[in-house]
Amino acid sequence: MRHDKRVVLVTGGSGGIGEALVERYARDGAAVGIVDVNEETGAALARRLADAGLGVHFAHADVGDFAACEAACRAIEAALGPVDTLVNNAGISPKHAGKPMPVWQMSPDEWRRVMDVNVNSVFNFCRILAPGMVERRFGRIVSMSSVAGKAYLDIVAAHYSTTKAALIGMTRHLAGELGPHGITVNAIAPGRIDTPLVRGVAREANEKVAQETPLRRLGAPDEVASTCLFLTSDEAAFVTGQVIDVAGGWLMT
Ligand SMILES: NC(=O)c1ccc[n+]([C@@H]2O[C@H](COP(=O)([O-])OP(=O)(O)OC[C@H]3O[C@@H](n4cnc5c(N)ncnc54)[C@H](O)[C@@H]3O)[C@@H](O)[C@H]2O)c1
Repeated sequence: MRHDKRVVLVTGGSGGIGEALVERYARDGAAVGIVDVNEETGAALARRLADAGLGVHFAHADVGDFAACEAACRAIEAALGPVDTLVNNAGISPKHAGKPMPVWQMSPDEWRRVMDVNVNSVFNFCRILAPGMVERRFGRIVSMSSVAGKAYLDIVAAHYSTTKAALIGMTRHLAGELGPHGITVNAIAPGRIDTPLVRGVAREANEKVAQETPLRRLGAPDEVASTCLFLTSDEAAFVTGQVIDVAGGWLMT
């Protein structure tokens, strides 16, 4: 197994792509910490995997809250050991009646909330966990960007695409800064993946994306997890600062 002896922390690990990540890492030998704001689904997932004999620990936190992230990291490291693999997956894409809010009507609170959950969270976890990775001279970091960070999409709002573009800049900067310390930093840009996040829009909108996608379908959470496991495995030890589309050829950004 490729992730034996690894301690992986997945943010937003209770549902959607995060749940697939948690399960795949646990089945690939890693001890997995889940950080999520949804206590009910996170604890249930941890219980289900623990019952299957896998090492999983759930910690509740809002990823936009630095003190809560610190407490969650401390709890996970106390239960599983030092985190060497961080997957910044938590993200939100607020809609109103299934539609993105135009920037000229958006509330400043909504704008700031998306910055906190989608971008400031990545700073929070890197700030808390990178010192240990630097000290041990090993680390793997992957952040969930989006094709919306690279191309205009009318099905998301400005805050969402702004945060996903920010993660691409942060990935490249951190790859440069942390590379000399044995840490790789990459990002994944999913296309349209069938999760609760995309079910909030009209079905026709997702069908249109499927038709525009060369592979003529939405992606599955497990297909994003496969790329993430590759990026954090030893097979990708010389890959850093990259943004990998998992999008069925949609947009080819
Ligand atoms: N689904 C897609 O088509 C798609 C496409 C491109 C990028 N992405 C990105 O992939 C990531 C996962 O998306 P998904 O589709 O699985 O979303 P999802 O909504 O299905 O799941 C997101 C998870 O994050 C958790 N979460 C939300 N806000 C949180 C907070 N403040 N603190 C802690 N946890 C929080 C939720 O409880 C949930 O478990 C996101 O960053 C998203 O932007 C998704």
